[in-house]
This record gives sequence, structure tokens and C-alpha cells, in this order.
Amino acid sequence: MAYQGVIKTYKEFLPVNEKTPYVTLLEGNTPLIQARNIPAKIGLDARLFFKYEGLNPTGSFKDRGMCMAVAKAVEDGSKVIMCASTGNTSASAAAYAAHANLQCIVLVEGGGIALGKLAQAMIQGATVVEIDGNFDQALKLVKEITEIYPITLVNSLNPFRIEGQKTASFEIVDQLGEVPDYHFLPVGNAGNITAYWKGYKEYYKHGKSQRLPKMMGWQAEGAAPIVRGEPVEKPQTIATAIKIGNPASWNFAEAARDESGGVIDMISDDEILTAYSLLASHEGIFAEPASAASLAGVIKYKDRGGFKGGETIVCTLTGHGLKDPDRAMKYASPPIKLKANIDDVMSVLNI
Ligand code: F0G
Repeated sequence: MAYQGVIKTYKEFLPVNEKTPYVTLLEGNTPLIQARNIPAKIGLDARLFFKYEGLNPTGSFKDRGMCMAVAKAVEDGSKVIMCASTGNTSASAAAYAAHANLQCIVLVEGGGIALGKLAQAMIQGATVVEIDGNFDQALKLVKEITEIYPITLVNSLNPFRIEGQKTASFEIVDQLGEVPDYHFLPVGNAGNITAYWKGYKEYYKHGKSQRLPKMMGWQAEGAAPIVRGEPVEKPQTIATAIKIGNPASWNFAEAARDESGGVIDMISDDEILTAYSLLASHEGIFAEPASAASLAGVIKYKDRGGFKGGETIVCTLTGHGLKDPDRAMKYASPPIKLKANIDDVMSVLNI
């Protein structure tokens, strides 16, 4: 049978009853791509895989949890959903609200989110509010508003978001035929590391897998509250998706790290951009900068002598590179401009 989306595919693992609608844009079922070139290029003796979540319907992993959160909002009779966002959650919320005929309100930092994400939320009919403040302030406002008014909060504080997102772990185990030794991923509001760890543990408990991976979370240096052990009041990073100073799922992220024997550490913006460019130019995978934090983490951990050799490593690539075209335009070499004649064109080619 053709693929039916996250809720139907994994309903035995999800909070689904006879009244829960199968809200889906056919999210999930994303490819697990084995790296061909990067291990040799960086001197890594391991099998390296990318879970390419940028291929979800709105271009990020958020769709896995959003279908579940919106389905439960519909089940509960809610008419309006709301979130704060660094961009991807707002794009996903807007899409699923449009699909399920709900109203959607998103709060974002004015000038702080990537162009593609803003465009998505706007064209998908959300009420987009740009505040003069950052994500942490936006989330605080959304929490206050949704406590008072009959509006469903769809940030990852909504437990149904985590439920949907955990399905990525199931897919990885099924695609790989085993559990990876290490799972690397970026950490922002810390919902995703929470969800992956929950998913790995549930699969293990149900006898679908024989062991658990080490969870390896990576924050940007200018937005690394968990690593530094205190909230960051003015987070800064070019990876705008993870520009968060006070993550909602902080405790769950630490639990995932500690229970799995993993690590939560940080990488610089330069390290993120190096990994971003490597992924695109050496694997043909265009992921957004925040996503590349996972590969930047692998490189950092390898350089530190963290791997023994021969491990299986999965990196989640959380969002598509087209979300943030400005970053690619700034980072890559510009096009060569020439007159329209063969001699001029051939003169610049090394052929
Ligand atoms: N990567 C991307 C592309 C993201 O958009 C996010 C979070 C993360 C990683 C981090 O995931 O928050 O679960 O730790 N984006 C949220 C948003 C905050 O509003 O789109 P997390």
C-alpha cells in the first residue's frame, strides 16, 4: 500500500483513538542517505548516514510532530493554533492549519528568520506577527496567551509534537536494520533530541531494537545555554533556526544525554558553515545551516578522538537548504559573468 503519513503508519505507538483524524501531508518516510565522500574527506573511519528531514512536505522535521498536534487540536474541537518560532515551526503550523481548516497565528523575531520560512508562513495564510524581541520572548508570550485564550499551543511544549517527532527514530532503525552507535543532531528548543530519545527507547521496549544509541546534541556557541549551564539572554548565531537562549525542553535534553551516555556540546558558526558547505559540495545534500550543526559535531568529536573506528553514525539534517537561500548566496562563490561567446566561456573553464 502507498505510504500513508506518520499518524497512520505508526498509530500503535501514537496517542490515536477512533476520534483522531488522520491529518497528513504525507510527512515522514524521509531518506537515510549514506555519505559517499565526507568520511574520506575528513578522515573519519565510520559508516556515516544522513536522515534528510529537509524532504518533509514543508522542508523540515517539524511536520512529523505538527500533523499529530494539529490532529489532536481538531479532535479537541480547537479552531485556532499558535506558536513562537525561529521559522520552521511556523511554516509547518501554517501548512497543517491550512490543510485542517484551522486558523494559525505565529510569533517570530522581526528580521530574525530565514526568508523561505517567512514566505511559507505568509503564503499559507497564517497571521504572522513579527515582534521586537527574540524567540525566547515570543515563546513566553505564546505560553501566556494560550493559557488564557482558547487557542492551542503547537510549540514542542505540546506533548503531541514530541509524539509525532519520535517516529524519526523508528524510521532510522527500520532503514538501517539496526540502531546506530551515535545519533548527532542540532539542539535549539531541545524538543527534537527529547523526541528521538523517546522514540529509540520505545522501539527498544517493544522489542523492535536490541540497544540504544548515544545521543549527541550540538548547540551554536553563541546560543549554547545547556552547554554553559545557564540561559543566554541575547543568543547569536548564523544558524537562526537554533538561535535560542532558554530551551523549553532543557531538562529532557539533559536526560537524553545522561541516560544514553551521550554529549551536548557546542560548535562555532565557522564550523557550522564548513559542514554546511561540505554537505552541499561533497554529498549533493543542501541542508540549512542549523542542520549542518550535526555534521559539525561529528567533525569536532572525531578531532577530539571521540570515535574508536568502525562505528555507525546517523546525523539528522533537520531542514532544507532552500529555506535560507541568503546564506548560500553569501557563502558560495558568485557566478562568473561573461559575454555570450564561446571563447570567453572556454577561457574560464579548466577543460
Ligand atoms: N534544526 C532546525 C532546522 C530547526 O528549525 C530547529 C528548531 C532545530 C534544528 C532544533 O530543534 O528546537 O527541537 O531542538 N526550530 C524551531 C522552530 C525552534 O521554531 O522552527 P529543537
